[in-house]
Amino acid sequence: PTVYLNGEFLPADKAQVSVYDRGYLLGDGVYEVIPVYAGKAFLLERHLQRLQNSLHGVRIENPHSNEQWTQIIEDLIAKNNNGDQSLYLQVTRGVAPRDHIFPVGVAPSVFLMSNPLLPVAESWKIEGIKAITTADIRWMRCDIKAITLLANSLMKQQAQDAGAQEALLIRDNYLTEGSASNAYAVIDGVIFTAPKDEKVLPGITRDLIIELAAKADMPLHERAVSESALRNADEIWISSSTKEVVPVTLLDGEIVGSGKPGPIWQQMHALFQQYKQ
Ligand code: PDD
Repeated sequence: PTVYLNGEFLPADKAQVSVYDRGYLLGDGVYEVIPVYAGKAFLLERHLQRLQNSLHGVRIENPHSNEQWTQIIEDLIAKNNNGDQSLYLQVTRGVAPRDHIFPVGVAPSVFLMSNPLLPVAESWKIEGIKAITTADIRWMRCDIKAITLLANSLMKQQAQDAGAQEALLIRDNYLTEGSASNAYAVIDGVIFTAPKDEKVLPGITRDLIIELAAKADMPLHERAVSESALRNADEIWISSSTKEVVPVTLLDGEIVGSGKPGPIWQQMHALFQQYKQ
């Protein structure tokens, strides 16, 4: 595959970064994951706006205008044969001698790669997935899409070790989100998802789900559900750019609702597929 690194398109195995990059030494950077359908970056303007917000949150100056980002992204998609892809974009604070204090006058490092965007498994839509709950051990700026994913990785691995596909995170007795997804509970026909604050990532897929629900007159509240409400929910879903919206049918080994993907999920999934076309 062809990647983009600091102004150049080159084969992935020829791309090299310094061991002094602050992304490598300090996890000092932010990222985006952007789905590409049939050669077109999906909801690109929204991803670029969130990138701007993340950069602002960590005090890195945006190295490119939206026009420049769009050009780089369109070129990278074409160089990787269009079709469906998952684009990964990251900006780190740059290369400097190791120091917690920001370096002065250093250009950020910019890296983009194209990964396969695998279609969501049919079995996930027919049977749903398994999830576990675990304590949300992350910091208090989860609204920043930081490359520093050690906590997320530990929690996702805990799910994997339990034979589950996602970990749902509990902070102070309330569901925040998944280790790599936003989360939803459906209770008596009403969809709940945690509000946008420093405890969750403002998911692009989440925003779309909220808009689709509003247009279809499906009741939805941006309100966090308690752990006990979650355990009694009729439906649980997760969403992300790479997985769209997926039903959870087993939580900590207990059946969720009917044990099958629920009717509200079916409706949202259909709306999502329609919107994607
Ligand atoms: N993760 N919350 C967290 C913690 C995430 O890592 C993600 C996505 C989301 C969903 O956001 P969006 O709908 O914008 O993809 C929510 C990406 C896919 C990743 O890290 O690979």
